[in-house]
Order: sequence, then structure tokens, then C-alpha cells
Amino acid sequence: MNQIVYIKHATQLLSLSSQSKEPRSGPSMNDLGLIENGSLVAEGGVITFVGTDEEAVQYLDQHGKKEDILTIDASGKLVTPGLIDPHTHLVYAGSRENELEMRLKGATYIEIHKQGGGILSTTTETRKASEKTLFDQSAKRLDQFLKHGVTTVEAKSGYGLNVDDELKQLRVAKQLNERHPVDVVSTFMGAHAVPVEYKGDSEGYIDLLIQELLPRVAEEKLAEFCDVFCEDGVFTLEQSEKILNAGIKFGLKPKIHADEIEAFGGAELAAKLEAVSADHLLKASDQGIQDMANKEVIATLLPGTAFFLMTTPARARKMIDSGLAVALATDCNPGSSPTESLLLVMNLACLTMGMTPEEVITACTINAAHAVDKADTIGSLEVGKQADVVIFDAKNYQILQYNYGVNLVHTVIKKGQVVVQ
Ligand code: NIG
Ligand code: FE
Repeated sequence: MNQIVYIKHATQLLSLSSQSKEPRSGPSMNDLGLIENGSLVAEGGVITFVGTDEEAVQYLDQHGKKEDILTIDASGKLVTPGLIDPHTHLVYAGSRENELEMRLKGATYIEIHKQGGGILSTTTETRKASEKTLFDQSAKRLDQFLKHGVTTVEAKSGYGLNVDDELKQLRVAKQLNERHPVDVVSTFMGAHAVPVEYKGDSEGYIDLLIQELLPRVAEEKLAEFCDVFCEDGVFTLEQSEKILNAGIKFGLKPKIHADEIEAFGGAELAAKLEAVSADHLLKASDQGIQDMANKEVIATLLPGTAFFLMTTPARARKMIDSGLAVALATDCNPGSSPTESLLLVMNLACLTMGMTPEEVITACTINAAHAVDKADTIGSLEVGKQADVVIFDAKNYQILQYNYGVNLVHTVIKKGQVVVQ
């Protein structure tokens, strides 16, 4: 663990460093802290130096660090912080390629959901799966994330929808965090759908969530955040508020799936509750966007979901120009976004939502770190932060958005260890 890693001669190194402890909003999303001919040194899993090649040579001389150094030559390459995916439904069993066929024939996502398909069919598969099966299937997805440069993911429950199976999903997320190189941040999302046993009795299900499940999740320390699918036909605004407030009482920070399908008031609710983030926001109103900006709620946008559901993506330009801090995520799940490629999501953010290459990188690093409340340890290349680093086979950062749909990851370093090469 104490080996020194020395990355040198990076054609571009993006430090994303900043004086401010706040998420980057508006124009500050364009500041990448770019260092040409950059170097980075890490020791014991932590970054100990970031600067130019000349400064690095001096630093290593002064600190007598000449031996036991793993030197990585990044000539012609781009070095960035490990990417962070702040919205996934990582832990589930099965797949739903049949729904793609249904949607191609004209069925909508919400129609499939209301007919008992969608989330409910993955719930059936996830309930049937053992912890081991769930672990193995989800670990494979994490391997893919890592290969695509992602070193931290948030993971939501919400395919158990009863006490035992929600806890099972969250325990698997915890084991993945312990055993897989990718860090997994857990979110309790029992309010992802009303399960069949409670059809027509959503209040009964919410009682179960608040009275039985939340106390267990808190007692076993299985989640850091609480999320709700606040949407017409799923959970109402009042129900969402009640669940998120109950989560807050148990120490879980609020997040919301907001205004994905309809302009439902989810963005406004996120502002009212001062949620950490509101996610999706395809149909968020002008008022909702303004309210979120006033309360500094992060907008986590998921253009891969809009792409896969063949719909218009969120108004990223309007949001950034209104002063919102935007993060980007895959939404990795079996129904609306079956992908582990945050790199493709970055391409889509640029090409379908008009975000600049600079904004896109900020959204997947420091702002995504804020969206999982981990900006004190990850999201930028700064002395004292965890050494999570990606080296891309690209001579500048614009190439990441230009050469689309391919994986340009060359090397991934997690907590100072080379994990992809
Ligand atoms: O974020 N919108 C709700 N939940 C997921 C989809 C889950 C699923 O279809 O299995 C989403 O898009
Ligand atoms: Fe989601």
C-alpha cells in the first residue's frame, strides 16, 4: 500500500482544483485546472503532489524519493480524476431486452410499468436471486464501470420492495464496496415502485417503508441517501415528501427522481427539502430550475436514459445558464438505461444537451463528488485527496467528446493502485 506512484509527462492533466468547497455552478463549470506537461505523485493511496514535470522532479529530490517508485509515462495522454457516477441502480438480477422490443413497437415506458412490467419485473427477478447471484451479476457491472474510468458509483436499492429483499440488495451493495476496487455509495430507494402485494394501497406500503424498513436500514448503516421515484402513477409529491422527511429523521440525505416523465413539481420539492440532488429533470419547469438554483440543489442529468427511452433530454443549457450545478450519471438500470459507459453519457451530454466538453468533465468529477457528498476526498486531483486517477489515450480533453462511443481509457488507478492497464 505504501508504494509511490509517479505519473509524469501528461500532455494535459486536469486537476479540477478550486478554492471553493461548493459544487461548480454556471460559468465555473468551465474551469478544469488544466496543467500542461503535468505530473502527479501518490503515496499510501493519497495524492501527495500535483504540478508540472519540473516541479515534480524537485519535489521528488527534496523528499528523497528515488526508489520503490512506480513511474508511469503519460506522454501524449490526458490525466483526469477518477470519474464518479452519482446515480445508478447497480444491484439487480436479470435483464429486460423484451421491453426494448415493446417500446420499438410503440409502448411507452410508463405503460409497461403500469401493466406490471418494468421495475416490477426486475423486482421479481431480484427477489428470486440469492445474495451470491446478485453480487456476481453486479460485480460484473462494476468491472465494466472501472474499465470505463469510473472509480466511484452510487447504487440504489428499489428492486426488493419488501423488508428482506431491500435489505438483501443493500447488503450486496455494502459487500461490493468492501470487496471491489470501485467505491459504492448506497442509497435506500424502497420508494421505487409500489409492489404488487400493495397494489391500490400505496399508503400501506409507505407505512412499511417508514415504520419497518427505514429503522432497519439506519440501524445496519446500509445507506447514506434516501431516494423516491416522484412521478405521476408512482409516488405523489405529498408521499415523496413524507418518505424523504422520514429518511432525514433517520439520517439519510434526500435525493429525488424528479420530473422524468411529466412536469410534476419534483424540482420544486427538491428545493423545498434542500435535497442533495434532483435527478432526471427532463420536464422540470422554469420555476423548479430557479428554485433549485436558489437552494443549491445539484441537477444530476441522465442523457443516456433520454437516449434509450427515445425522448428529449433535460434542458442542461438552461440549467447551467440559470446558475445550477450539473452532474452527469449513467442511471445504469435494466429498463431505462442498461449501460455502464459514463463515457458515452458524456458524449451524449455534449452532443444532445449542448454542454461544453469542460462542463461535461466537471459534471463527472467534482460535481458528481458533491452529488454523493464525497467532495472532501474525491472528484479532483489535489494533495490530500484519494489517489483515484484515469489516464486516457487522448492528447487533449476535447478528444473525449469528439471520438465518441469508444473507450479511450488507458490506465485506471484506484487509491494509489493500478487496477486497469
Ligand atoms: O431512473 N425512473 C425510475 N427508475 C429508473 C428505471 C428503473 C427501471 O426501469 O428498472 C430510472 O430511470
Ligand atoms: Fe434512476
